[in-house]
Amino acid sequence: MYNSRISGLGFYVPENVVTNDDLSKVMDTNDEWIQERTGIRERRHVVKGTDTTTSMGVKAAQKAIERAGIDKNDIDFIIFATLSPDYYFPGPGVLVQRDLDIKTVGALDIRNQCSGFVYGISVADQYIKSGMYKNVLVIGSELHSHGLDMTTRGRGVSVIFGDGAGAAVLTREEETTKGILSSHLHSEGQHAEELSLIAPGMGKRWVTDILEDVDSGEEDTSYFPYMNGQFVFKNAVVRFSEVIMEGLGANNLGPQDIDMLIPHQANLRISQFIQKKFGLSDDQVFNNIMSYGNTTAASIPIALTEAWEQGKVKEGDLVVLAAFGSGFTWGSVIIRW
Ligand code: UT7
Repeated sequence: MYNSRISGLGFYVPENVVTNDDLSKVMDTNDEWIQERTGIRERRHVVKGTDTTTSMGVKAAQKAIERAGIDKNDIDFIIFATLSPDYYFPGPGVLVQRDLDIKTVGALDIRNQCSGFVYGISVADQYIKSGMYKNVLVIGSELHSHGLDMTTRGRGVSVIFGDGAGAAVLTREEETTKGILSSHLHSEGQHAEELSLIAPGMGKRWVTDILEDVDSGEEDTSYFPYMNGQFVFKNAVVRFSEVIMEGLGANNLGPQDIDMLIPHQANLRISQFIQKKFGLSDDQVFNNIMSYGNTTAASIPIALTEAWEQGKVKEGDLVVLAAFGSGFTWGSVIIRW
């Protein structure tokens, strides 16, 4: 029986910092509202024509591969999680294979939004545990800013999201007491539309209709993300708690055993609620949403990398990753570092 461990981590965010005050110049919002409701102070937005979802993922991956101490051609499989791919198809997994000039290994794209990285780690872990692959590259990357409604109409969503990428290399481990102990995945499609972007999608309408509508003068808002914020918030706090407890319980552990919880950076208030519920100290929960906003599939690998870089994730630590988001989908990963 093999186990898998995270052998390398990396992240990349674009240089362009967008503060809450910057947003208040283009829509009716303000720093106080954003900080009070979300904890966000600033986020990064890609400057048009510079990065793409794939290029950010590639930069994060290069760092992760270097830190894993392997050659790029030691990668056996690529997993890419995003809700903001460069193209409708093909997905960015193959673009990473091309741009990193990796040999013709398989590339899988994951469509699980905020839970995408957790799902990706779970898939990679199964491939490694089964003995099929030795090194799997898992990337989460998002370029939200080009697709947001940057008017007052979209302010409930647009102030939250930011751009960036994170990556991890998972490597086969002979020792079974260390590494990824378990992963736990869930979905509830009943609430699919509560946090969604309906178009482009073949269920939306026929291309011929779109062509006919071109001159109608009506703006099609289904190309912007929609979120029923309060409903998502209420579900998030419940599902985060459940799936963390499920993961701990599966390993005969409890909240007191957590050394570092890395929650998906959806809203600082959600993280604080979970922290309080489990009686965790500030040292046991890592948050960086203040600086990057919600980067969806990228948020956990960015946070995990920063925590590790700051020495807050150490050998022997019990690290818990947990995510909730559009789908609804949610999940947790329990790691003995
Ligand atoms: O990552 C995936 C998972 N996502 C989440 O977990 C997000 C969960 N939801 C949330 O984080 C919160 O619901 C939000 C931060 C999105 C919104 O906070 P809220 O406290 O639920 O605000 P709200 O949507 O109920 O809006 C309250 C008021 C409204 O005005 P009225 O109707 O009370 O006059 C909004 O129009 O705040 C207004 N508002 C804003 N005001 C200034 C909404 N967005 C803004 C804004 N600036 N950006």
